[in-house]
Amino acid sequence: MNIVETLKSAGIIPVIVIEKEEQAVPLAKALVKGGLPVLEVTFRTKAAAGAIAAIKREVPEAIVGAGTILTVEQLRAAKESGAVFGVAPGFDPVIMAAAKAEQFPFCPGIATASELSQALTAGAPMVKFFPAEAAGGVKMIKNLLGAFRFTGVKFMPTGGVNLSNVGDYLAVPEIVACGGTWIVPKDALAAGDYAAIEKLAADASALVKKIRG
Ligand code: 3PG
Repeated sequence: MNIVETLKSAGIIPVIVIEKEEQAVPLAKALVKGGLPVLEVTFRTKAAAGAIAAIKREVPEAIVGAGTILTVEQLRAAKESGAVFGVAPGFDPVIMAAAKAEQFPFCPGIATASELSQALTAGAPMVKFFPAEAAGGVKMIKNLLGAFRFTGVKFMPTGGVNLSNVGDYLAVPEIVACGGTWIVPKDALAAGDYAAIEKLAADASALVKKIRG
């Protein structure tokens, strides 16, 4: 599967901030059980690379990618830890070039027409639209599509997306998936409440099925 198909297969991608490596495996198991096997483990914490490696080792049903890739070093660490794709909140041509050189499937972030244009020139098959709600939401994506649809670009909006508005995004055919932290609330993870996380994942995956059939 290429990155577009991978992200599309789940429709909703939990954006994960793991503080402790030991949270990774039970968390991934809960998300897979809830029906959301495609995960974005963000490099916002030191535990990220170890968490990705642990999930790869112990939860083979999970498809684990790395998020918040802001440096080439993080990109390499993500690939070495076994991540099968990378995501960034913004567009950085240096990181795009490194991803290409490493043959690492990568989804850069954009919030404007100029950034989208640059991402396409750099060869991105899809982009994260971030921060989705603050940057204009579904309306902005539809406006961008007016000019860019013919390129075949696909979107993954993230930032301010939640269960109450994700349906509006997923109804747009060019939006292959939405990302969000709402499926893994900080408090639930800190408390080890994996049942609550599984329930949030199940609600999200049920909505994807309802919309996509
Ligand atoms: C991200 O980087 O993808 C965002 O932090 C997710 O935004 P959210 O917390 O509003 O879901």
